[in-house]
Amino acid sequence: MTASTAATSKSSGAASSSPASNGAPLLELRDVEASYGPFRSLFGVSFTVREGSVMALLGSNGSGKTTVVRVCCGLLKPTTGQLLYQGDDITGKRPFRLARIGIVHAPEGRSVFSTLTVEENLQLTFRQVFGRRGAKAALQKAFDQFPRLGERRHQIAGTLSGGEQRMLSLARVLVHEPKLLITDELSLGLAPVIIDEVYRTLATIREHGTSLLIVEQHVHQALTLADDVVVMSKGKVALAGPVGELGDVTESILPAVHGELPSNGGR
Ligand SMILES: Nc1ncnc2c1ncn2[C@@H]1O[C@H](COP(=O)(O)OP(=O)(O)OP(=O)(O)O)[C@@H](O)[C@H]1O
Ligand SMILES: [Mg+2]
Repeated sequence: MTASTAATSKSSGAASSSPASNGAPLLELRDVEASYGPFRSLFGVSFTVREGSVMALLGSNGSGKTTVVRVCCGLLKPTTGQLLYQGDDITGKRPFRLARIGIVHAPEGRSVFSTLTVEENLQLTFRQVFGRRGAKAALQKAFDQFPRLGERRHQIAGTLSGGEQRMLSLARVLVHEPKLLITDELSLGLAPVIIDEVYRTLATIREHGTSLLIVEQHVHQALTLADDVVVMSKGKVALAGPVGELGDVTESILPAVHGELPSNGGR
């Protein structure tokens, strides 16, 4: 899908909202630098995530992708630079505050209560958010969105496959109806057929109006969904732009992911 179609592809889902009236992008990083103690990991990172779009954050191991994610969801405060959400400065805000305004991070891997059933896992979250009555409708909605979870509602979560556990994690975070869902290596360690299923789920989530920032090792997999791409290299943006404008993948994106382009393509 092209960037222009992505910008208009939102449905009327509850998570959707009109773009900020000031025309600002959904999320913007401006010259963000971040460190772990004395180790600087990000150097002047700038990019934007457009309302209704899917941004793929790519790059080799250690290039800074997870660090960007940690900054975007409030787990790591930038040392300099700004994080803007619909034009508002949200730099340094804590994760729970960002979740309240619509930025939600899907935890990696299998963040489920492994000794509880699928239904009990969902009910725990839904009751906290909606109370006992509302939880019933939320449960039905989750099973409509993830039929496989419905089929396995009485199964102990710890015995679900890796892909199913990831779906269960997603169903739990989606209850917050995020405007921006951030995922880090959601497909790590999954069989190709399950990865396809997880990606179909992400496509559905986007159709319901949620923008996505996805970190992915598999470039081709990411490009099945992404409208825009940012490639990180050594803590900097090496390449950025709409997928349709970056030319042939093997000549642009892949070399950037493998560190074969100068790190100034996106600056
Ligand atoms: N807690 C930490 N303390 C010190 N350095 C860290 C810490 N976490 C990450 N780093 C360093 O920051 C740099 C960027 O790491 P990051 O985890 O963001 O990379 P990544 O692109 O997500 O890599 P991968 O693809 O392997 O997940 C790396 O050099 C890494 O060693
Ligand atoms: Mg990482």
